[in-house]
Amino acid sequence: MQHSIVRLAPQVGKRVCYNGLVIGSLKLTGAPCETRRALSSSVRRCNELTNEKAKAAAVGPHMKDSSLPPVSLPPGGDISSGGHHGDWVLFHPVYSPEELKAVEVLRRDATCLSDKVAAGLVQFARWGYDLVTGYKHKEIPPEANMTLEQLRKEGYLLDDKQWLQRILFLETIAGVPGMVAATLRHLQSMRLMRRDNGWIHTCLEEAENERMHLMTFLTLSKPSIFFRAIILGAQGVFYNLFFFSYLISPRTCHRFVGHLEEEAVLTYTKCIKEIEAGRVPEWSDKPAPQIAIDYWRLDPNASLLDVIYAVRSDETTHRFVNHSLANLETEDVNPFALREPDMHVKGKKIAFDRDEAGQYFKESREMLRLKDS
Ligand SMILES: [Fe+2]
Ligand SMILES: [Fe+2]
Repeated sequence: MQHSIVRLAPQVGKRVCYNGLVIGSLKLTGAPCETRRALSSSVRRCNELTNEKAKAAAVGPHMKDSSLPPVSLPPGGDISSGGHHGDWVLFHPVYSPEELKAVEVLRRDATCLSDKVAAGLVQFARWGYDLVTGYKHKEIPPEANMTLEQLRKEGYLLDDKQWLQRILFLETIAGVPGMVAATLRHLQSMRLMRRDNGWIHTCLEEAENERMHLMTFLTLSKPSIFFRAIILGAQGVFYNLFFFSYLISPRTCHRFVGHLEEEAVLTYTKCIKEIEAGRVPEWSDKPAPQIAIDYWRLDPNASLLDVIYAVRSDETTHRFVNHSLANLETEDVNPFALREPDMHVKGKKIAFDRDEAGQYFKESREMLRLKDS
């Protein structure tokens, strides 16, 4: 099973250098301490993720730097050509066929007050999202003998335009949290004059990945002025709300995003099922947009369905990463700065708890150490 990693700037023709956390042959132990976080029921403990030596080792070569053949620069290069090249430069996974099918719809049960708040807010956001995109969850009665047109007319099924509307709205919002989190951690690192421990890049990668979902689906249709106006308002409200919430409780915000991504995985899973059942015939044989073939390194003959499988895997990554980050202390080292588990883990497990994250980080450093020796 192959889990390749995109390390190159597609269509830019040069290696992107990543600075991350890194290696050291450190033996780590930690003494427990008892400080409680605001809005969190978790007790702070020191482990591999908080150890000062681990933080001091947070510089150097990055596992994601392992070489792949360079991507050739496409013809053209006119600076005024509309910015179609170099639209993405950050790390994102490229999935094997087995990984694409390994995704499961999972739910995390809220256990403490802040988790319940995060889960409740997502349910509220889901209600607003369904309202704005005109979606009503209606099961098709087993005895119903209706045509596709009748099922759509009665609100049992969405047509391709409704699906696209729903996806576009989701993706315009989904790109906000990663950028806010990265911004605030970047500012905090400078303001407090201390290291970030690898969170900023993972948050930026998520934001770029979500924006690429949007860029991909925008090739299918141009949104109306009315839709753009709704997005303008929604982004203005959501960005500011998330910004101030992240200042108060970063952990609750990552939990919120984890639950939001559960909904995204659910939505794309439903979309995949509908296409495969022939209920969205407009998309049955639709080819993948070129931007998606380039971004996910798809087969040149890939279909839109292949793209949606890849997008769902990305959402699964965000679900796993954000729920895992929400299980950490904000000063901990980001366990995914060096590498990420593949979809056979991320697709079937909702998150790493703090001890698992610490162990994973330790293993990653050991792999890098062996690789370098
Ligand atoms: Fe997305
Ligand atoms: Fe997402």
